[in-house]
Amino acid sequence: MLNQYKVAIEKSNIISKTDINGIITFVNDEFCKISGYSKDELIGQNHNIVRHPDIEKSKFKLLWDTINSKNIYKATVKNLAKNATAFYVNTTITPILDENGNIIEFIAIRYDVTKEVVYKEELEKKEKELKDLNTSLEKRVEEKTAELLELNETLESRIKEEISKNEAKQKVMFWQARLASLGEMLANIAHQWRQPLTELNLIVFSIKKAAMNGDDKEVQKFYDDSKNIIKNMSNTIDDFTNFFMPDKEKQYFNVTTSIDESLNILEQIIKNEMVAIKTEFEDVKVLGIMNELNQVIINLIKNSIDSFINKSILIREINIRVRKDLDIAIIEFQDNAGGIKEKNIYKIFEPYFTTKYKSQGTGLGLFMSKMICEKGLNGSLDVKSRKNMTTFTIKIPIEEENA
Ligand SMILES: Nc1ncnc2c1ncn2[C@@H]1O[C@H](COP(=O)(O)OP(=O)(O)OP(=O)(O)O)[C@@H](O)[C@H]1O
Ligand SMILES: [Mg+2]
Repeated sequence: MLNQYKVAIEKSNIISKTDINGIITFVNDEFCKISGYSKDELIGQNHNIVRHPDIEKSKFKLLWDTINSKNIYKATVKNLAKNATAFYVNTTITPILDENGNIIEFIAIRYDVTKEVVYKEELEKKEKELKDLNTSLEKRVEEKTAELLELNETLESRIKEEISKNEAKQKVMFWQARLASLGEMLANIAHQWRQPLTELNLIVFSIKKAAMNGDDKEVQKFYDDSKNIIKNMSNTIDDFTNFFMPDKEKQYFNVTTSIDESLNILEQIIKNEMVAIKTEFEDVKVLGIMNELNQVIINLIKNSIDSFINKSILIREINIRVRKDLDIAIIEFQDNAGGIKEKNIYKIFEPYFTTKYKSQGTGLGLFMSKMICEKGLNGSLDVKSRKNMTTFTIKIPIEEENA
């Protein structure tokens, strides 16, 4: 029976025996298998042969103290195989006593737990890596959060700064545009006055003649005529002064009134350049500063006329249409002034974009016009060009006067 037990234990465990000095006196096949040594290489050797250098002295001392005082030693031990690899065994060392109670030998029974230990070690390594990753991640998140907070704080002030810079820039451009149109306007006044001045000149001459002839009735007639002419000239000046008046408060005004006024201002140049203006008006009131819309309309018509001249167009037509679409006022300007090249059409609203000579254009006209439509009138200004025709469309939302 005892022998059968012995066989059962030997087959299932790693077993070795040493004498009291630790010299190996017996090993089973399982021991040879795991250590890589043959029985001959082991028997007679000190058990140290499988000692792993990682194991501290203190552990060995504990082992020997335990078994020398006739106690059983139990531990998971790291051992070294012949091929220098490590293996782990769950070990139980039992001292064997004789009938007098003296130790005669030690028997060590072990089983292989290498796989479990390696798994555990790997798991611990991964856990540590994860923990490290987590802390570095936490640190990075903290850093980024701080950065973001700081950015956020400075962002607001930077935006404000940029906005005020932009506003200042736009004011300068606004004045540049106004100054440029001031020059144009003076030229327009000169145009507008040339004919009445000539007429006045003739009338003055006729008055002198009539007076010399003592024809009082004639004198009166010439007097009335000249008064009329002078009134017209004065009106022209009023139109222009109005246009340059500082901007007033927003008001409800009729879109067609604005177009009529603008056409009045440009009357002479339109005549001189032989441009036919066709209009199709619907009554629509919008909220804004009329002078500003005038400026847009004058810019658009001036651009058409410039293009008529530059491209030597013979038959010159501008169609202006005002209509209402639900709650939007739509003003369309269509000319047959040669069209705008596709490569340019995306740029025409940019400040300082011009295809004209320096003296002729600043390139601010359309930029200002778009700004006025968007900012001043809450609407939009768009362009379409195909073949030789160009259409600019102004859209202004209609706000109810009573609301
Ligand atoms: N109706 C049009 N037909 C053809 N080209 C046009 C028309 N309107 C504008 N353009 C083109 O768009 C460009 C930009 O127009 P914009 O009014 O902004 O500047 P400008 O007329 O060149 O100069 P400014 O108006 O400042 O005197 C013009 O130079 C021209 O090439
Ligand atoms: Mg222009």
